[in-house]
Amino acid sequence: CNVVVLISGSGSNLQALIDSLDEDNSPARIRAVVSNRAEAFGLQRAQAANIDTHVVQHKDFADREAFDAALMEIIDTYQPQLVVLAGFMRILTAGFVRHYQGRLLNIHPSLLPKYKGLDTHRRALDAGDREHGCSVHFVTEELDGGPVAIQACLKIEPNESIDKLTDRVHAAEHIIYPLAVHWFAEGRLRLATQGAMLDDMLL
Ligand code: GRF
Repeated sequence: CNVVVLISGSGSNLQALIDSLDEDNSPARIRAVVSNRAEAFGLQRAQAANIDTHVVQHKDFADREAFDAALMEIIDTYQPQLVVLAGFMRILTAGFVRHYQGRLLNIHPSLLPKYKGLDTHRRALDAGDREHGCSVHFVTEELDGGPVAIQACLKIEPNESIDKLTDRVHAAEHIIYPLAVHWFAEGRLRLATQGAMLDDMLL
């Protein structure tokens, strides 16, 4: 299963994927890492693991459509069965999302459907939530709104600092993202369409 990973920053989730896919003898292979920022540290992680890297800087393109078209062109040279967003901080166009429908995963630092968008840890603390966590989900046209594949749920400790909570959620991401990618590569995780679900129910 050819995997392309998109990043914008540190790439600690990318590192967790690199490490676990090696260890687990997974059918998933990370063929390339693409960043929209040349300074993203994740690019160095990929190079250290002998993975192809590409930089496509959004500021070089007139609009989102042109940027996404350039991204797709590079991604598709690897013929990926799966595209993994790992801290990729650009909103993708509907055309991009449709092109990779059913083979595009994202990780989001909240217990979706709670706290779509940014600043999730602060929002969970401000709301006085007792639990917080992270979710791996299929990407659909609705931002952070696609079907969830796996979540890690953590109890928020009394008076927990935002830094500690952020770190604990991050550590949980590093467990569930490799699991989801591994399942996908083994054919155990699929995005069902409405029609397919109905077919299953009729069987
Ligand atoms: C993670 O918190 C992830 O949930 C969010 O972006 C962050 C990426 O972190 N989508 P890293 O670059 O993998 O360290």
